[in-house]
Amino acid sequence: MKTVYWLFAVSAALFISGIAFIIAGERTARAATPASATAAIETAPVATIKQIMIGITNPSAYVIYEAVGTKNTAKGIEEIAPQTDEDWAKVESAGAAVVESGNLILTGNRAIDKGDWVKMTHDMMDKATLAMAAAKAKNKDKIIETGGDLNTTCDNCHAKYSRE
Ligand code: HEC
Repeated sequence: MKTVYWLFAVSAALFISGIAFIIAGERTARAATPASATAAIETAPVATIKQIMIGITNPSAYVIYEAVGTKNTAKGIEEIAPQTDEDWAKVESAGAAVVESGNLILTGNRAIDKGDWVKMTHDMMDKATLAMAAAKAKNKDKIIETGGDLNTTCDNCHAKYSRE
């Protein structure tokens, strides 16, 4: 009789902890899925265009500009290029950040107009996407080329929409 009781208690305990595992698993799974449409409505823009430029666009663009090139050191002229997969992934991610910063300056009431602002932002996003592809392909020459093209898209917009 006692053994039967114990077996019952143990299987009940296993059943309950099994449920706890399922709940914990569910929670983790939910946390990893993209936010629902309701959550998106709750997000509110915080940054100004200038803050997006200084906080996201500019530092990310510089990761691309400075990824490949030469540096004057005590040992002479040193070649600079991403070495490891991680280095290349950082450059690719920097490109992604520039693209996303473009999405941000088109969002809400940040878009200054529906004409050149949108076009020039898309130019920047297109070039940053090409820089991402160059980093993915680990192509040093393409990083230099797309970095230069990206820089032109920044200058074009700054020439039209004043920087303070
Ligand atoms: C679609 C237009 C547009 C594009 C494209 C753009 N910018 Fe800007 N940027 C602006 C505007 C407008 C400001 C000024 C914001 C202000 O002062 O309120 C600005 C400001 C800046 C500033 C801040 C300057 C300061 O006053 O300190 C930096 C840095 C900057 N941009 C870098 C970049 C870089 C790097 C790129 C390209 C990768 C880029 N921007 C692309 C419109 C743009």
